[in-house]
Amino acid sequence: MSKKPFYITTPIYYPSGNPHIGHCYTTVACDSIARYKRMQGYDVKFLTGTDEHGLKIEQKAAEKGVTPKEYVDEIVGTFKRLWKYMNIDYDQFIRTTDDYHIETVQKIFRELYDKGYIYKGEYSGKYCTPCESFWTDSQLDENGCCPECHREVTFAKEEAYFFKMSPFADRIEKLLTETDYLQPKTRAAELVNNFIKPGLEDLCVSRTTFKWGIPVTFDDKHVVYVWIDALSNYISALGYQNSRPDEFSKYWPADVHMVAKDIMRFHAIIWPAMLMALDLPLPKHLAVHGWITFNGEKMSKSLGNVVDPFVLGEHYGCDAIRYHILREMALGADSSFSNEIMINRINSDLANGIGNLVSRTVAMADKYFGSTLPEEREETELDTEFKNTVIQTVADVDAAMSETRIKNALETIFRTVDRANKYIDETEPWKLGKSEENKARLATVLYNLLEAIRIISGLLSPFMPSTMPEVWKQIGAVPENVTYEKLSVFGVLPVNVTVHKGDILFPRIDVEKEIEELNNIITENMEKAKSNLSESEKPAEKIELAPEIPIEDFMKVEIRVAKVVSCEKVKKSKKLLCLQLDDGMGGRQVVSGIAQYYKPEDLIGRKIQLIANLKPSKLCGVESNGMICAADLADGGCRVIFVDDDIPVGAKIR
Ligand code: MSP
Repeated sequence: MSKKPFYITTPIYYPSGNPHIGHCYTTVACDSIARYKRMQGYDVKFLTGTDEHGLKIEQKAAEKGVTPKEYVDEIVGTFKRLWKYMNIDYDQFIRTTDDYHIETVQKIFRELYDKGYIYKGEYSGKYCTPCESFWTDSQLDENGCCPECHREVTFAKEEAYFFKMSPFADRIEKLLTETDYLQPKTRAAELVNNFIKPGLEDLCVSRTTFKWGIPVTFDDKHVVYVWIDALSNYISALGYQNSRPDEFSKYWPADVHMVAKDIMRFHAIIWPAMLMALDLPLPKHLAVHGWITFNGEKMSKSLGNVVDPFVLGEHYGCDAIRYHILREMALGADSSFSNEIMINRINSDLANGIGNLVSRTVAMADKYFGSTLPEEREETELDTEFKNTVIQTVADVDAAMSETRIKNALETIFRTVDRANKYIDETEPWKLGKSEENKARLATVLYNLLEAIRIISGLLSPFMPSTMPEVWKQIGAVPENVTYEKLSVFGVLPVNVTVHKGDILFPRIDVEKEIEELNNIITENMEKAKSNLSESEKPAEKIELAPEIPIEDFMKVEIRVAKVVSCEKVKKSKKLLCLQLDDGMGGRQVVSGIAQYYKPEDLIGRKIQLIANLKPSKLCGVESNGMICAADLADGGCRVIFVDDDIPVGAKIR
């Protein structure tokens, strides 16, 4: 039987500045839903991408002396790196500068014009350049400035094409009030009262004051203006009206578009109107979430209050960050970001909750049974209640996920984690372990715990995809044990399952120390963002060179090319990585203080520069035979100097 299709999208992001934790929310949420649906057996397509046209990009590129495309290419690279770092498993990354997208937008614009829904007119009003938005007087803030970024607006007037919205007003009102398109539906009233009831205004869909956009084919003074360009991505990605292979017939209409509240109007009114005008089916759901706020304001690059997800990921790992943002945000409401809430949440739910449950259970199986459970069993009534609670979690999570209530799904799972930890306290395995007589009971308790962990970790895997496979390793589960169907069944692990003690999943964080460290980083970031200069753009500080040395001294240093064969973190150290190198001389081990900047998998297979004739030394008790070259950055970070792959291992560097 062919799988049922499921199509989910994030908004396409403006690559006008580096991504921040606010951008991560929608993407992590969609990724979790996509993974959840894949686990349930759907044929999922998960789309994300970037919205690359517009005046702001054109201006920023000009300031930097690069073309707009060169400007966006770099930032798009950072977005993609972030999504990889956050373990985002998208199926397609669309860029509005992609040829196939341009083809679709031009055809859609033409079709709407031919059908009489687009006409030429003149636009005048208050305009905010950074936000690229026209505002009416009543929309401006109390100082007469842009309601979004609070900067000054200017009066602007220009010839433009407009999209007629009024023919669709009744159908859109019904869509919002009589169907379950909008999630949460409570937002429908504000849309109807603010935009539909007063009469839908026609939408400006072309501009003549800048060039960085998709040209209108029949009027080359004009480029297509933001929303027709941006919204069309959801169908151009599927090959609609372009040369890409057809996925439109399979995946359209979309199952879920997820967006934050500031772009709800465009997705709740303009997008349905466009689709109606094109005679296309409407998406099934629009899930609207609030903002991640910082000090009460939307976190955003232009407000300068950004929190860098790379920094958070380096400190706590991507799963902890994913969990935190998903667990904090209820659909529809804002959630305020604070280091303290985040760290406390990581400690309570991850270190003490799931982390402790796994390590205690595995350690007891190891201690009392040498890792492999015996086959004897002795069940009690308590077990039946416990098993039922665990099994019920699956249905409860499913109910929450079917309404995009991710926070509730996670709450449900963590209630079961608490229940399992309580089961340990109730059954007191450490007492059972004292006598051989209780062997069967002890094996039953530990087996039930391992089964609970199997089900819990299976359910958590879409949300924390990097850590859960490690849990499976520790509890002796193979991938077939954690398929979705197997999560509703108790008793899947082999009776005499073997556990494997492993690393601590989520180390406990020293709250005070971390908060101080993070606050310093965030303050620094805010200063950087405000001055609008990245570290690499700032002039280098005055460089003080060490005293000159003769060439003979330099020649004493042997720098050789080596390849990283394997790499792992040095236990008990946050800073050190231990690398095994192929140095062309039989191999060697080097310890390097770069763990805060690189994950082992970033380095494996790469070629580096090795100081090959340093005397061996010990770092954190681990022997190091040499040093790898890296550049110190002004912000305290560092970058390894990689070597081109075609330079052979062992080659001498001079
Ligand atoms: N390019 C448009 C979207 C076009 S979709 C057809 C856009 N881009 S954006 O980069 O400014 O924002 C993308 C999404 O990120 C929006 O849903 C926006 O609300 C969301 N967020 C940006 N900052 C955010 C927070 N601080 N918190 C939560 N979401 C945030 O709008």
